[in-house]
Amino acid sequence: MSACFHNPVSTVFGAGSLARVAELCTGKVTLVTFPEAAQLGLVERVRGLLGERLVCVIDTVQPNPDVAWLRDVHERFWAEHGDCDSVFALGGGSAIDTAKALIVGTQSGSFDELLELLASGKPFTPARHKPLIAAPTTAGTGSEVTPWATLWDSARQKKYSLHLACTWPQVALIDPQLMLSVPGRVTVSTGLDALSHALEAIWNHNANPISDTFAVSAIEDILDCLPQLQQDLANPELRARMALAALKAGMAFSNTKTALAHSISYEMTLRHGLPHGIACSFTLPMVLGLAWGRDGERDRTLQKVFGPDLASAQQRLRGFLHRLGVHTEFEDYGVTAAEAEAMIDEAMQGARGRNFIGSQAA
Ligand SMILES: NC(=O)c1ccc[n+]([C@@H]2O[C@H](COP(=O)([O-])OP(=O)(O)OC[C@H]3O[C@@H](n4cnc5c(N)ncnc54)[C@H](O)[C@@H]3O)[C@@H](O)[C@H]2O)c1
Repeated sequence: MSACFHNPVSTVFGAGSLARVAELCTGKVTLVTFPEAAQLGLVERVRGLLGERLVCVIDTVQPNPDVAWLRDVHERFWAEHGDCDSVFALGGGSAIDTAKALIVGTQSGSFDELLELLASGKPFTPARHKPLIAAPTTAGTGSEVTPWATLWDSARQKKYSLHLACTWPQVALIDPQLMLSVPGRVTVSTGLDALSHALEAIWNHNANPISDTFAVSAIEDILDCLPQLQQDLANPELRARMALAALKAGMAFSNTKTALAHSISYEMTLRHGLPHGIACSFTLPMVLGLAWGRDGERDRTLQKVFGPDLASAQQRLRGFLHRLGVHTEFEDYGVTAAEAEAMIDEAMQGARGRNFIGSQAA
């Protein structure tokens, strides 16, 4: 057995830990957050904690940051606040991923220069960058402990994946109290995103015993906790358990990347408008079936959670999703069997799909 695990993010976890933001961010700070944050009193709280050090607030982040919106925000940020010392992302994956794009500056100041570099798919060193401190307000994406950001281009029906050494957050500040206001629908979809991260970290060519430890623990917590939380959204203990589960899932896939379910999800979000967490989880029972029997060690890890029988494992996962109100078949989302087959085949060839242990393209 051998393993190599690397995650450079300092993690601060606990109810009330937002209070430490002034000590964790350096110098002049830009806050990147979601539109409801002002109404929830979060922008004022951060202003109270940072005082005059808070020099810029970007609070127009929409779900799934789109390059058409990001272009202007990015260029104005570098033109007007290029001298700030750190960026504080306070929000779900959309705010954190937006902040990851913002901290990467270009030579010319043009956002399209960054997009061209991303489209080339080649590694590059950014002209300038800033440190990122990330405080998730949803329990799902794990973006606070990963270097990736997904940038969407809905007009062209494509997405970009940003991943640089500097896009690892410097600090993940996880305060479960920030999640108490997340509506039921978003609580479920983000929790399922975390479940998908953990499972995808297991049926993955890059898996190792350390990522497995995080993944198995996250799956057990989510299967137990998410249905309870759906019925009791104001419960701080359940919020904290889901926050920790999402963190563990994030740690797991920070070293393995995602796999087939995520590869399929991008198409389902771009073409069928599914929220990310639903798009990457409704296929989990089907993908479990494709993973099972491919690799003895991967089977043993999956069986730690689901027991030795595939049919019961799939039934358990399907029942879990159905009880949360999530449909599990392509046809439920208007995708025919033939379209689904083509989508799965194509997803297997994608960058994430090739991480899947059942992919022939690996
Ligand atoms: N970088 C990564 O590793 C990674 C991993 C998974 C997903 N993602 C990306 O993250 C995005 C999805 O992030 P998400 O699922 O966290 O959702 P989100 O950030 O889009 O937020 C969903 C909704 O909830 C609202 N919201 C967020 N926090 C709230 C709170 N505390 N109270 C009330 N409302 C709140 C937001 O305004 C938004 O309307 C997608 O763009 C996806 O591609 C990134």
